Amino acid sequence: MKAIVYTKYGTPDVLELKEVDKPIPTDNEVLIKVYAVSINDWDLGLLQGDLINRLMNGLLKPKIKILGSDIAGRIEAIGKNVKKFQLGDEVYGDLSGRWGGFAEYTCARENELALKPVTMSFEEAAAIPQAAMLAIQGLHDKGQIHTGQKLLINGAGGGVGTFAVQISKLYGVEVTGVDSSGKLEMMRSMGFDHVIDYTQEDFTKNGQCYDLILDVKTNRSISDYTRALCTNGIYVTVGGSMVRLLQALILGPWISMISKKNIRIVGLKQNKDLAYMNELFEAGKIKPVIDGPYKLDEVPKAFRHFGEGVHKGKVVITV
Ligand SMILES: NC(=O)c1ccc[n+]([C@@H]2O[C@H](COP(=O)([O-])OP(=O)(O)OC[C@H]3O[C@@H](n4cnc5c(N)ncnc54)[C@H](OP(=O)(O)O)[C@@H]3O)[C@@H](O)[C@H]2O)c1
Repeated sequence: MKAIVYTKYGTPDVLELKEVDKPIPTDNEVLIKVYAVSINDWDLGLLQGDLINRLMNGLLKPKIKILGSDIAGRIEAIGKNVKKFQLGDEVYGDLSGRWGGFAEYTCARENELALKPVTMSFEEAAAIPQAAMLAIQGLHDKGQIHTGQKLLINGAGGGVGTFAVQISKLYGVEVTGVDSSGKLEMMRSMGFDHVIDYTQEDFTKNGQCYDLILDVKTNRSISDYTRALCTNGIYVTVGGSMVRLLQALILGPWISMISKKNIRIVGLKQNKDLAYMNELFEAGKIKPVIDGPYKLDEVPKAFRHFGEGVHKGKVVITV
């Protein structure tokens, strides 16, 4: 089968289209013919080989050589212990940890997958898993979003933000999105009530306060975020600068104790809310924003586009 393979850490130039052996599912796995896969920030970290990703995937060179976690495809073979799926089922899910999505075939356990609604395209399905789970778990599980709130999303024009705005609108909240100037028009069209260009304005210093902040960049100090929260406000980070995340982890509990403001961190629960996403999609309440689709041999180009930060929504590859 064809796959995008890397054997050393580096820029997207180290990604190569190669012929490799088709994977064989174990008794607890299914074999999936991949039709679409999307790029996540984690793929880029594993490609570049920052320290944390090297600790996971090999200090000197990558152990797992095919990246790609968010896939959608059709089941072509089934291990004998698999109960939930049948041959031909159209499925999608987040395979992070095992990876292998930038390929014509990959394997997965049944608890890593959900059935894809027939009205959802493979490209839309591949856009959903990681970004939508982070949005739901950030807004709902950690953020306790409710009607009438003022919400701010920092890093709002990418994967998580474009799901988060659609989900938050279901709760009747007023949403402000922060991103670079090239994305603000798209963000307005998606339903953001207010947009802020972070190169022109610092939302932590504009005198406004927010009941809930969802942050995908975490590039400011915890005291800045605390200042931007209203009384009883909640700041939720899904990721960003490691130093800032450590600050949130250490100082967050103290801030919650001494003030009426809360600092929380999302630990991704992979695939937990895919059934809820199916419901929202089938009810016409959620539409993934797709940048692309690119072809499998264009994965290096797609990674460059993603790495430059100019993408809107999710960068998707059709296999
Ligand atoms: N918590 C967990 O368990 C877990 C698991 C997996 C991933 N993650 C995290 O989830 C996040 C993924 O988010 P995503 O998929 O939405 O990423 P994304 O698609 O790259 O979107 C990030 C957006 O932030 C914008 N941005 C860049 N610098 C900014 C700044 N200074 N201020 C405001 N916005 C800025 C980018 O646009 P421009 O570049 O054009 O400015 C981009 O539109 C990452 O932080 C990742 O580490 C967390």
